[in-house]
Amino acid sequence: MLDSDERTGRQMSATPKVAVLGLGTMGAAMARRISGAGMATTVWNRSAGRAASFVDGPARVAGNVTGAVAGADVVLTMLFDADAVEAVFAEALPAIESHAIWLQCSTVGVEAANRFATAAAAAGIGFVDAPVLGTKAPAEAGTLTALLAGSDEDLVAVEPVIAAIATKTVRAGQAAPAASALKLAMNAWIATITAGIAQSLTIADRLGLDPALVLEALHGAPADSPYAQLKGGAMLKHGFEAQFEVVGLLKDVRLAREATPGMPQQLLAALDELYATAADGGAAHADIAAVWRAFQD
Ligand SMILES: NC(=O)c1ccc[n+]([C@@H]2O[C@H](COP(=O)([O-])OP(=O)(O)OC[C@H]3O[C@@H](n4cnc5c(N)ncnc54)[C@H](OP(=O)(O)O)[C@@H]3O)[C@@H](O)[C@H]2O)c1
Repeated sequence: MLDSDERTGRQMSATPKVAVLGLGTMGAAMARRISGAGMATTVWNRSAGRAASFVDGPARVAGNVTGAVAGADVVLTMLFDADAVEAVFAEALPAIESHAIWLQCSTVGVEAANRFATAAAAAGIGFVDAPVLGTKAPAEAGTLTALLAGSDEDLVAVEPVIAAIATKTVRAGQAAPAASALKLAMNAWIATITAGIAQSLTIADRLGLDPALVLEALHGAPADSPYAQLKGGAMLKHGFEAQFEVVGLLKDVRLAREATPGMPQQLLAALDELYATAADGGAAHADIAAVWRAFQD
């Protein structure tokens, strides 16, 4: 069913056809949710290997970017960083439908989100700035939090897609880069709390205690959080299978630094150093809980 949007003249589909560009940890799970919700979904990934699990599966696999976006009402990008998004969008642009909405979910920071919104406007397509909170398991369960900035019309058009991947939305503003700005604030918190629990476990250990006592004492206290328990528990077990890779969070800490040059940056600088130490020490593609390693000798 097609409805005409009076402001943009776009033809909106009640069950949009969706192209998902990027099948990493997050993109693959999100694509499965979207196709599982009954939307015709075409997926593409730079390395064909990651698309293999979609062959004979719920979504159509495209061999190239243009083949993925042709005919799509919503083009969702979930790629590593701004450089990747920029390169893939440039390749996609000639084949993107004039009525399409670009749903940009990768974490790219404020400058790039602005640039992408401008590029979308120049191309005459809609743009929704839509980074997400939550990691692999919430992505698989469709329980992400979507941070959203875009026009009312564009948000209505992408609503079925958002409903398939997220159970909570936060409208950060009417236009990019408001959602990307909020995402930087949120990931600074994630970086802080994860490094913080690693530090407390290490302090307890250095003082001759069982570090598990930290999580026990924290449990249910006002300063507790499910995230600290989750990541702290992973540190105790040395369970660093990637839910969110160290390189990803390091990217986001650096994006926050770049975006706030006038703010005292002692904490961001320390986080930058800690996650970089973990990455350089062999944990670049381990889970962010591996920041714990930066506190060890
Ligand atoms: N993991 C999380 O918990 C989490 C949570 C919220 C937001 N995010 C954000 O979501 C985005 C994706 O995260 P992820 O964890 O899914 O990352 P990931 O597993 O590392 O996947 C990255 C994706 O980007 C693609 N890519 C990288 N460089 C590329 C390039 N130059 N051209 C084309 N494709 C390129 C990769 O393709 P190949 O397979 O070919 O390498 C892969 O599909 C990132 O911006 C991340 O910060 C992640």
